[in-house]
Amino acid sequence: MANILKVKVILGSTRQNRFSEKPGQWIERELKKNSEIEAEVLDLRDYPMPFFDEAEAPSYKTKPYSDPTVVKWTDKIADGDAFIIIAPEYNHGYPAVLKNALDYVYQEWNNKPVGFVTYGSAMGARSVEQLREVAVELQMAPIRNAIHMPYDVIIAVGKGESDETVFAPYAERATGLISQLLGWAKALKSMRQGK
Ligand SMILES: Cc1cc2nc3c(=O)[nH]c(=O)nc-3n(C[C@H](O)[C@H](O)[C@H](O)COP(=O)(O)O)c2cc1C
Repeated sequence: MANILKVKVILGSTRQNRFSEKPGQWIERELKKNSEIEAEVLDLRDYPMPFFDEAEAPSYKTKPYSDPTVVKWTDKIADGDAFIIIAPEYNHGYPAVLKNALDYVYQEWNNKPVGFVTYGSAMGARSVEQLREVAVELQMAPIRNAIHMPYDVIIAVGKGESDETVFAPYAERATGLISQLLGWAKALKSMRQGK
């Protein structure tokens, strides 16, 4: 349907035993409650790209890159109207695997909004602030509303508490994040269509 907005949820880590898939699957469920949205999780494990080594920078490329995984990844980004990045914090930044995936694409990110779900000892704040700077250079619109969770959520899930219980306190914030993301997604879709 023409009015449906496609929101891609990007899992920002790929390591064994990662936490990112838990909030990723949760926010996907929250997105699916909204009939205006078609949500899809993009798992970087399914896109094992080499460290960026192309001759042409993505913003200057004149034809698709040859690596089929990169092409598949780029097509998924092209298909999205908005993004939610599940952003772990690694050494006060974001994971290298996420930066590599961001770097491979350019035009397909342009004029699309991005929101963040994050966690960690400083509630993932340092990771997200750095990602906002990267998003601006990709000509994206990083939105203000974000979901920041303390390290306690990782511990609780590790102890076997259900995702439902652990993430329940964030339901209202999810609604706020999704509502702001949708507003920007609609505005920027019109802009991309020249309306
Ligand atoms: C390489 C590495 C660096 C980390 N650095 C930080 C950090 O700077 N701040 C923080 O809050 N947590 C840090 N952690 C702990 C992570 O928040 C925690 O392991 C979290 O589960 C990582 O996300 P993931 O499970 O999706 O990979 C680090 C973890 C790893 C593996």
